[in-house]
Amino acid sequence: MSPGKPTILVTGGAGYIGSHTVLALKQAGFDVIILDNLVYGHRDLVEKVLQVELVVGDTGDRPLLDDLFNTRAIAAVMHFSAYAYVGESVTDPAKYYRNNVLGTLTLLEAMLAASVKKFVFSSTCATYGVPEVIPIPEDHPQNPINPYGATKLMVERILSDFDVAYDFKSVRFRYFNAAGAAPNGLLGEDHNPETHLIPLVLQTALGKRESISVFGTDYPTPDGTCIRDYIHVSDLADAHVLGLEYLLKGGDSEVFNLGNGSGFSVKEVIEAAKQVTQKDIKVVQCDRRPGDPPALIGTSEKARKILGWHPQYSSIEDIITHAWQWHQNRHK
Ligand SMILES: NC(=O)c1ccc[n+]([C@@H]2O[C@H](COP(=O)([O-])OP(=O)(O)OC[C@H]3O[C@@H](n4cnc5c(N)ncnc54)[C@H](O)[C@@H]3O)[C@@H](O)[C@H]2O)c1
Repeated sequence: MSPGKPTILVTGGAGYIGSHTVLALKQAGFDVIILDNLVYGHRDLVEKVLQVELVVGDTGDRPLLDDLFNTRAIAAVMHFSAYAYVGESVTDPAKYYRNNVLGTLTLLEAMLAASVKKFVFSSTCATYGVPEVIPIPEDHPQNPINPYGATKLMVERILSDFDVAYDFKSVRFRYFNAAGAAPNGLLGEDHNPETHLIPLVLQTALGKRESISVFGTDYPTPDGTCIRDYIHVSDLADAHVLGLEYLLKGGDSEVFNLGNGSGFSVKEVIEAAKQVTQKDIKVVQCDRRPGDPPALIGTSEKARKILGWHPQYSSIEDIITHAWQWHQNRHK
């Protein structure tokens, strides 16, 4: 262990946001152990880029967790692992409640048994459902409209109850749309299947897809397409390190939105991608998808104020440029 810096267990650290956060944790001097079942994670990135210990296993495996907590001096857990495909959560909710709720509860119980009581949790703006006000503040009502959002809200509730009953301290981050890639080009977004707009647009620019589908062009927005708040994954990673340090210093349980506070429409993202890549990107206009709110933008003032978080890459061009470097390297 590095002198003075504790060991952090990062579940889902072989995935997109988790891997960028492991990099930031290493840069901040923490020792890291990743627990990932590799259902969606990437062993090659852990071994070649992150170079930290990878335990291949599941958050629902209590004996494995007990062994981990009993044999390592783990001070806190960052919990990224979950299933996050909204559409699949509607058709197969059991899979989502089992992994995202039961898997998390198993992890939390193992932590309690080992008296590890500091936890950073990946929640989501999907817990808000259809917003009543824009930008969305943290005290906005939470009415998720799909099982995925419901699983995350349930864990938030469990964490509040654990704080009252067991003095278990957590930071819950509600992310808006994570996007971009590490500016050094070594890490990036590689979901399979991919459902996020920016990688889909860039895969189209690379010729891996024929076209990009735009779902709905008649929304009540300036250009008729949906508006989302894109937050650079390295800025998200920095917020996690700050959230962890806040807890390690004795901070109380808190919830923070993590977004840019401004939004870009689907058409604006595609236009920016054309500029960055200098490629023609074929667009197909489709009907609206059920359950897509016209605009999702969050205020992140609280994270700036309490954690001292200063996002560095708020321009959509920076986000797409870093993602483009990564996609070109990854798909060579
Ligand atoms: N990507 C976004 O824009 C976004 C937005 C809001 C919230 N989130 C949340 O952030 C977290 C990370 O998202 P991501 O985009 O990096 O996803 P990801 O799929 O890239 O990473 C999740 C990782 O968790 C692992 N995993 C899943 N279930 C596991 C289990 N039971 N045990 C061990 N490992 C398991 C997967 O193999 C994967 O490596 C998720 O909890 C997601 O719900 C993501």
